[in-house]
Amino acid sequence: MNKFPQNFLWGAATSAHQVEGQNIYNDWWQAEQGHLLKEASNSACRHYELYAQDFSIAQQLNHNCHRFSIEWSRIEPQEGNFQVLEIEHYRKIIADLRSKGLEPVVTLHHFTNPVWFSQKGGWTKFKLQKYFLRFVDRIVRELADQVQFWITINEPLVYSSHSYFLGVWPPQERSLFKTVKVTLNLAGAHTKAYQIIHQIYRQKNLVKPMVSIAANLQAFEICQPTAKNKLAAYLRNRLYNFYFIEKLLRKKTLDYIGVNYYSRNLVDVQSWRIKDLLAQTCPYNHHPLPKNSLGWDIYPEGLFKLLLAMKKYKLAVFITENGICTQDDKLRWDYIYQHLQQLHRVISAGVEVLGYIYWSLIDNFEWDKGFIPRFGLVQIDYQNQQRTVRESAKKLAEVFKSGEI
Ligand code: BGC
Repeated sequence: MNKFPQNFLWGAATSAHQVEGQNIYNDWWQAEQGHLLKEASNSACRHYELYAQDFSIAQQLNHNCHRFSIEWSRIEPQEGNFQVLEIEHYRKIIADLRSKGLEPVVTLHHFTNPVWFSQKGGWTKFKLQKYFLRFVDRIVRELADQVQFWITINEPLVYSSHSYFLGVWPPQERSLFKTVKVTLNLAGAHTKAYQIIHQIYRQKNLVKPMVSIAANLQAFEICQPTAKNKLAAYLRNRLYNFYFIEKLLRKKTLDYIGVNYYSRNLVDVQSWRIKDLLAQTCPYNHHPLPKNSLGWDIYPEGLFKLLLAMKKYKLAVFITENGICTQDDKLRWDYIYQHLQQLHRVISAGVEVLGYIYWSLIDNFEWDKGFIPRFGLVQIDYQNQQRTVRESAKKLAEVFKSGEI
């Protein structure tokens, strides 16, 4: 049996817009209502009302932590108009988690923005960062005494590339210039948010918080060992996996490294064009692997390789997301089990890991893909909002209980 460290954090994640329902003041809602996306989130999982029921399920499944996000557009639906009752709502959420023995891991930005913020230009404008920082300051002041783990920004590069380069997420633009600008502004915003959070804890004489981002990492593997492919894999690894993290490490604004890991990217480049070097993948299903329902390769070894490569940072990592969308629950369990094996393997190789958070606690609104992909440990019937615990969740509960695989 492979034992995980003592005090390991075990849990699952959600994000506000994907589960709460009726987030009517954010840019996603606006785009959904304007029929710019495949599906609208509408009531989603009604988690805003049903959170206590969902956390009871997590508790029964032996989770000891839970990651969720605070919806900025609920807190500040119009510029400067802070909603005390909404802050209170998240305070209740945290109290409920704590009463059930679940350590809260709180995300401050998970892809959505208040409409008023995006109408001013959102993350493309350096000077608008101050609005996010004001929100961070307010929330952290209110909740600091109850929260130890913060994630300022979820997957900054996924946000900037999907919203400003690929044009698939609001505001659906396609501009390399804006993508770079947004990425840099997010890095700057994180750095300042980090300082604000730490300052508040010092002022309040609280134990130092643990602050990070959740970085999306992909395993870049080459299809054929050509010079082009080797260069492409190297560049992608530097640019998409480690550039952002290293930038924040240099600024000393990471207390741990939040890692979201899902899949492999099979690099196969036909020309030296920069566009191909940075994006072209093998279209032929060479080196086939099992896939999730969105067609992403299942590649547990990638988790091992990436975490091992991060050992040199000498900073603990925290798996803030890892998961699979599938209708085949046996495959879900295989996915989880194999990733936990790799996680244990890398811990044995000397990498410090604080915990493992599965994406997601419940099925939810998968952004531009709508409600079809099923990532949940718990199935949602969207007709009647009924929750059904999947077999994989029960198996995982055994691991969480024993702390071993
Ligand atoms: C995001 C989640 C998303 C998940 C599955 C991550 O990129 O943080 O919001 O649902 O992956 O695609």
